[in-house]
Amino acid sequence: MILVLGGAGYIGSHAVKMLLDAGETVGVVDNLETGHLAAVDTRAKFYNVDLRDLNAFESVFSENEVESIIHFSANSLVGESVSLPIKYFENNVAGAVNVLKLMEKYGVKRIVFSSTAAVYGEPKQVPILEDSETLPTSPYGESKLMMEKMFKWADLAHGIRFVSLRYFNVAGADQSGDIGEAHGVETHLIPLVLQVPLGKRKEITIFGDDYPTKDGTCIRDYIHVTDLIDAHMRALDYLRQGHGSEIFNLGSGDGFSVKEIIDVARKVTGHEIPAVIAARRAGDPSTLIASSEKAERLLGWKPKYNDVETIVKDAWNWHSKHPNGFVGL
Ligand code: UFG
Repeated sequence: MILVLGGAGYIGSHAVKMLLDAGETVGVVDNLETGHLAAVDTRAKFYNVDLRDLNAFESVFSENEVESIIHFSANSLVGESVSLPIKYFENNVAGAVNVLKLMEKYGVKRIVFSSTAAVYGEPKQVPILEDSETLPTSPYGESKLMMEKMFKWADLAHGIRFVSLRYFNVAGADQSGDIGEAHGVETHLIPLVLQVPLGKRKEITIFGDDYPTKDGTCIRDYIHVTDLIDAHMRALDYLRQGHGSEIFNLGSGDGFSVKEIIDVARKVTGHEIPAVIAARRAGDPSTLIASSEKAERLLGWKPKYNDVETIVKDAWNWHSKHPNGFVGL
C-alpha cells in the first residue's frame, strides 16, 4: 500500500485519484482539519488520524503493509505561520518526526514529500536552482526546510530514501471537475480571482503594483496540479528503481504577473472582474520562477498543462461546478 498523508487536501486528493487510476493500492491518513472527506476517492482506505497522535498513527502501519509514503500533511499559510510559528513547528515538524519514527520501526524505506519555494526566501537570482541559498522568511518555509534536513539525517542513519519536491504556485484542478481547491480560508490568487465571477466577492485586490517587474505586480510560476502529481509518481518510481534521495523544484519555468493572471481569468470566464490596487502584502518576493531542469533530467518530467489559460480554465471548471467546494457533498 502507498500511504498518502494529507490525502483529503487539495493536492493530496489529486494524488490519491491519480495513484488509484494508475493501479496502486492507496491508504489515506488525514485529520480533516483542512481536508474534506468528500475529496477522498472512495477506492482508497481512509483513516481519520492526526500524525501527532503516535498510537493512532501506528495502528495504520500495524494493520497494513506500507510500501511507500507520499506526505502532503501540513499547515501551509505563510502569513499565519508568522503569527503562529509554534503551530507550524508542531504540526509540520513534530508530525514529520512521527512519520520518521514509524518508517524506521516498520522498515518503510521510501517517502516523497511536499516542500516549497518558500525555503528560498527572497531569491538572489531567477530562475531558482535547487542549490540556491535557502533563507526562509517565514516559519512555514523554515518548517519545510527543517523537514528536509531531518530526512537527510534519517537517510544517512537508517537508509530512509526521500524525494523532497519544492513546489512553486500550484493551481488548477483535475480535468473531471470532481475535485479541486477548497480552502476554509482562501489566500491564493487564482481561486480568489474566480470568486468574483462566482458572485462571492465584488472585486480582486492586487497587493502592490510598485514591484520592479514588467507591470509592477508580482511574478509567479504557476504549475498545474495534474503535472505536479505526475512528478510525485515519477519521484516514487525513481526511488523504487533504487536511486538515492534528491530534492527537486517543480514549476513551469515561466513567470506570470498578478495582472496577467487576472486578464486570463477575464478571458476564461467572460466576466469583467474589477480589480483594485492595495498595498504590498508583507513578505511577498517580487519574482519567483523555478528552474525545473533537474526534474526534467532525472525524472523525465515536463509539465504538459503549462499554459496558464489551461490552469485557470480547469480551476474555473471545478469552481463553477462546485461554488461551495465540498460543502454538502
Ligand atoms: N495576490 C494578490 N491578491 C490576492 C491574493 C494574492 O495580489 O488577493 C498576489 C500575491 O501578493 C502574490 C501572488 O498574488 O504576489 C500570488 O499569491 P498566492 O498567495 O497565490 O501565492 P504565493 O506566491 O504567496 O504563495 C505560494 C504558495 C505558498 C508558498 C509560497 C512561497 O502558495 O505555499 O508561494 O513564497 F509558500
